[in-house]
Amino acid sequence: MADERRVPIVSDDDMVTARAEGRALAAHLGFSRTDATLVATAISEIARNIVVHAHDGEIVLTPVYGDSRYGLVVVARDRGPGIPDVEAAMQDGYGSSNGLGLGLPGARRLMDELHVESEVGRGTTVTMKKWRDRDELERLRERRSDSR
Ligand SMILES: Nc1ncnc2c1ncn2[C@@H]1O[C@H](COP(=O)(O)OP(=O)(O)OP(=O)(O)O)[C@@H](O)[C@H]1O
Ligand SMILES: [Mg+2]
Repeated sequence: MADERRVPIVSDDDMVTARAEGRALAAHLGFSRTDATLVATAISEIARNIVVHAHDGEIVLTPVYGDSRYGLVVVARDRGPGIPDVEAAMQDGYGSSNGLGLGLPGARRLMDELHVESEVGRGTTVTMKKWRDRDELERLRERRSDSR
């Protein structure tokens, strides 16, 4: 099964790569096309924040294979300037630059969980998760293939 994927984020091209990797992992985990698109869009926003606000960083995508649900975990890290007021930055329209300020709050709405850890002068880590419930049939099939 797919393992963690690490995408260095330096340029706009890397945003495209991270987005594609996110979509591929979501598909692998059995997310709907719609949910895969939501995940990919959230990754784009967070990757763009790295390029625009922190210059460079990385995004790590990790699958979670639970018994009752599958998850996709996205961790975006940088050693940029940090965010002085994370709570304010999570509000619509806070964006300090030319942006609309919808990146962080938008990503939070697209994902099931979003958590920001940031220290001024040290950098920022954004952790986001999206979950998919597994149905009875899927679990049964897995148990069967495990016992073979
Ligand atoms: N990785 C980061 N490093 C430093 N500051 C960040 C980072 N990500 C977000 N921020 C800060 O949080 C603010 C809000 O981010 P958000 O993505 O919501 O808006 P934006 O990037 O300004 O505009 P938009 O994403 O709508 O184009 C940013 O303006 C910036 O000040
Ligand atoms: Mg942004």
